Amino acid sequence: MELVEEKVAQILPRIGDKAPAFKAVTTQGEINFPEQFIGSWVILFSHPADFTPVCTTEFMTFATLEEKFAHANCKLVGLSIDGLFSHIAWLRTIKEKIEYKGMKNVEVKFPLIEDITMEVAKKYGMIQPGESSTKAVRAVFLIDPKGIIRALIYYPLSLGRNFDELYRALIGLQTADAFGVATPADWQPGDDVIVPPAGSCGVARDRMEGKDQGLTCYDWFFCTKKLAKETVLETLLKQ
Ligand code: BEZ
Repeated sequence: MELVEEKVAQILPRIGDKAPAFKAVTTQGEINFPEQFIGSWVILFSHPADFTPVCTTEFMTFATLEEKFAHANCKLVGLSIDGLFSHIAWLRTIKEKIEYKGMKNVEVKFPLIEDITMEVAKKYGMIQPGESSTKAVRAVFLIDPKGIIRALIYYPLSLGRNFDELYRALIGLQTADAFGVATPADWQPGDDVIVPPAGSCGVARDRMEGKDQGLTCYDWFFCTKKLAKETVLETLLKQ
């Protein structure tokens, strides 16, 4: 039995996998995941426990940014190994009492999953016993509108997440899908993007001879092109 539990704790969905399905009780009613979110991007994230300071700063930050993510067609869903009443009490405390870095009266409107049984956390590899066997680590799953996991980011209990990076990752993935390009290190909208590599010797030669106009080639396998910030934002944030 112990071995089976150990195995379950080790399951880690991978990039390109279908997001594991579950039904759960949340602070916004029951959800059927990912089915009811098909058509939107989703950031599914776990946090260790309610009424803890790092998590409180993260929830306030995410709630403040919820509208910005919604503009990019992305919904937020949180999870911790706590019960519904604890979730409700914690979110009420945040709204009524906590003022932090200019954020106050913050209402968390996105669903927070109750997962006392750890059923959902185990499906998503959010329990990492080396860190804690009773608390979820700070996992982030970026899931696309077809319900496919496109990126995973994991942080330990002590390290609060960088929400600018989560937004950058979302926009980067959407840009790759919309424009058929890749994004280089530290890319931000408006920076040059990477075009697919040359698929034949002829294309490689043309690129190096400067025949493929609009490209900047650092070598035959590494060419970039301009992609205006307005084009990216108008395409992705049109809703
Ligand atoms: C926190 O969110 O503050 C926290 C939670 C679990 C362990 C350490 C810190």
